[in-house]
Amino acid sequence: MKLGLIAVLTLLTPLAVYADAPEQAAVQKSQEAMKEFGMTLKATLQAAMKEGGVMNAIPVCHTEAPKIAQQMSAKYGVDIHRTSLKPRATPPSEWEMVVLEGFEKDKAAGKPVADLVWKEVVEVNGTPTLRMMKAIGTEDVCLTCHGTAINPEVQAKIQALYPNDKAVGFKLGDIRGAFAVSAALP
Ligand code: HEC
Repeated sequence: MKLGLIAVLTLLTPLAVYADAPEQAAVQKSQEAMKEFGMTLKATLQAAMKEGGVMNAIPVCHTEAPKIAQQMSAKYGVDIHRTSLKPRATPPSEWEMVVLEGFEKDKAAGKPVADLVWKEVVEVNGTPTLRMMKAIGTEDVCLTCHGTAINPEVQAKIQALYPNDKAVGFKLGDIRGAFAVSAALP
């Protein structure tokens, strides 16, 4: 009985490890993509602010953010973008909304925003796919364009580019949104 169990476990363990390997690789790739995406966005924002202040940075975000998302998707072979429960440009899909709502609950229960990460593997059109999300916190610099007391000139510029903008009223430490990655497993 005991020996039989050990034999079964010995047989299953390498299979389990093998089955996990593509998922592990996809998780690592997704984490790298989110990290580089975040760093590139921040560097682009900082450069634009330095060059021409917030009025220059708004159109730069408008044109560059979607481009950077595409570049990162191509580089890592995944679909990566940002989204939010209060979106400016990229509203959440159904599954993303569920995860974002879960993040809000976890934060309310005391979990630090930096630790809010979620993942699952699901079949998408017959392909096992890793879905991963990581929350993005609201920092001081974000408040200029996403905060509660936005300069009217800045507000007008945002409104002109995003007539349906919902991405204002955030406070320091709020969940501004999240990275969302879909990566097909090999
Ligand atoms: C200069 C104004 C400006 C600042 C400062 C700014 N953002 Fe944004 N943000 C934008 C614009 C414009 C968009 C829409 C970009 C697009 O069209 O894809 C955006 C979109 C986003 C999105 C995508 C989700 C959505 O709402 O559509 C997230 C997440 C986000 N910003 C987070 C941040 C964070 C975090 C900071 C601070 C580190 C920050 N932003 C600072 C202007 C700004």
